[in-house]
Amino acid sequence: MGCGTGKNTSYLLQKAEQIVGLDFSQEMLNIARAKITDARVQFKKADLNKNWDIENHFADLITSNLTLEHIQDLGHIFEQASNKLKANGIFFICELHPFKQYLRSKARFESEEGIQELEVYTHHISEYIENANAKKFSLLEINEWFDKPEENEIPRLISFVFKK
Ligand SMILES: C[S@@+](CC[C@H](N)C(=O)[O-])C[C@H]1O[C@@H](n2cnc3c(N)ncnc32)[C@H](O)[C@@H]1O
Repeated sequence: MGCGTGKNTSYLLQKAEQIVGLDFSQEMLNIARAKITDARVQFKKADLNKNWDIENHFADLITSNLTLEHIQDLGHIFEQASNKLKANGIFFICELHPFKQYLRSKARFESEEGIQELEVYTHHISEYIENANAKKFSLLEINEWFDKPEENEIPRLISFVFKK
């Protein structure tokens, strides 16, 4: 979900027989397609806020990395993930930690008009858990990731492993 330029696709290819990367940015997909030409990978232009154009019960694993801060309605995401996963399939999420977002750390990029900040949505930890519960996912793992753990800092990322 939100495969972007396919940064994680090469890693996933070491494990997967087939990968579908979804993203709504044509520019990102162009870079991903130029970089990864393996026939097992299909990059599709898709808005995650709509119904995903993938057959139901297709996937063993769905992953999201730094994407959900751009999505307002987590309920829709968990619903689609539940539809597209096989029984006992895994939904792995790794996102900017909400603690960071409470301190207003937004996704930024540079353009001709200067530094731009993207529209972002803060998802509380409880929101992930409630939406997962509503779609009957079980939480297998939750982890918090730090840039410099020895400095007692705020975690940068949070990850969840859910099972359908
Ligand atoms: C910060 S990038 C992360 C890309 C990649 N997952 C990674 O870790 O390198 C967020 C990606 O989510 C995509 N995205 C944001 N909202 C989306 C939506 N509604 N539907 C599809 N893709 C979306 C953006 O186009 C962008 O490629």
